[in-house]
Amino acid sequence: MPSTTSDRVAQFTESVIREMTRLAYTHGAINMAQGYPDFAAPEDIKEAAVKAIRDDHNQYSITWGTREMRAAVAEKVARFNRIHAEPDTGVTICCGGTEAMISALLAIVNPGDEIIIFEPFYENYGPDAIMSGAVRRYVTLREPDWHFDPDELAALFNEKTKAIIINTPNNPTGKVFTREELKFIAGLCQKWDVIAVTDEIYEHILYSGAEHVSIGSLDGMTDRTITISSLSKTFSVTGWRLGYAVAAPRLTHALRKAHDFLTVNAPTPLQIASLYALRLGQEYYERLAAEYRERRDFMIAALEETGFRCAVPTGAYYTMADIGGFSEFGSDTELALHMVKNIGVACVPGSSFYRHAHLGRNRLRFAFCKRRETLEEAARRLKKLRNS
Ligand SMILES: Cc1ncc(COP(=O)(O)O)c(C=O)c1O
Repeated sequence: MPSTTSDRVAQFTESVIREMTRLAYTHGAINMAQGYPDFAAPEDIKEAAVKAIRDDHNQYSITWGTREMRAAVAEKVARFNRIHAEPDTGVTICCGGTEAMISALLAIVNPGDEIIIFEPFYENYGPDAIMSGAVRRYVTLREPDWHFDPDELAALFNEKTKAIIINTPNNPTGKVFTREELKFIAGLCQKWDVIAVTDEIYEHILYSGAEHVSIGSLDGMTDRTITISSLSKTFSVTGWRLGYAVAAPRLTHALRKAHDFLTVNAPTPLQIASLYALRLGQEYYERLAAEYRERRDFMIAALEETGFRCAVPTGAYYTMADIGGFSEFGSDTELALHMVKNIGVACVPGSSFYRHAHLGRNRLRFAFCKRRETLEEAARRLKKLRNS
């Protein structure tokens, strides 16, 4: 008898991150598993959304986004990413970076095409690849600085390669790809006629003077890059579901078709409110990064004191903590379950970020995008781990 559900969804499991979030609720644990802030979104940005609803911007918008939001995104990517995009032919507003990514892959991948993914990876890329029919090829980011081996990467490119997914600053490692690394990847993309799909949603969360480089701004990459970003992390509004994809007209045209039939449009009143957010001045971004730096430094110190060894991120708001000091636990998953149930801190087993799960068994990922009080309480609870 044929199965009532598809072979497609049978190929992936439910999100481990969201499962850990559910466990955090059940056990009253602090949720350091899922990367969303527990602090308030900026007051003025919320007011802009309230006003947009009151002003009755409550119906469908043009499927690829209001002209005004596309223009504001084009201005922003010119200012921060050195990418020139025409609002009418090069910018698509999507329901978060999440939808931009699946729309991008549905737009460019034919079943059997290969796509290259760095591991550890943001967990959505696996199911995205499966749903678009892509064959995944993996290249490993290696500790302690999460570099990749250029020869290993080069060996993956071939005539079946359609795209490479880049995520910088990177979740879960906190790596920020350097200009040299991106130039190397760009060279391979040009040699093999491959599209770079780059997820840059943490672009404004940078530490230690790290420079964010968009591969789409490099020579020869304008026509072969889809740049994805989002308001979720930059403006602490992960529930708004507002993101965008910037690409050459040929790619944008294809992506918009997938986007239209997946979601019609991103929330109209929030697109109106985004105009205020997207045009905020430099001080906003500087404060955002400075506040995250404080959270990072506090949390890394607390984790190290507990007995973890942390990879210090240069971007984004996660750390992959080495669990070698807790050898009494059989695996990352066992330790993560113990922590959520008995210590009151939820995190994510490192293996869930790897295709080759054993590579992540020595790590747990902690998200530190939380209020100071939350982090202090987490630090207090972590002390119990040393004594348990
Ligand atoms: C690397 C990465 N890309 C995309 C997303 C999802 O972004 P959005 O809220 O814009 O859909 C996340 C969320 O954690 C992420 O870490």
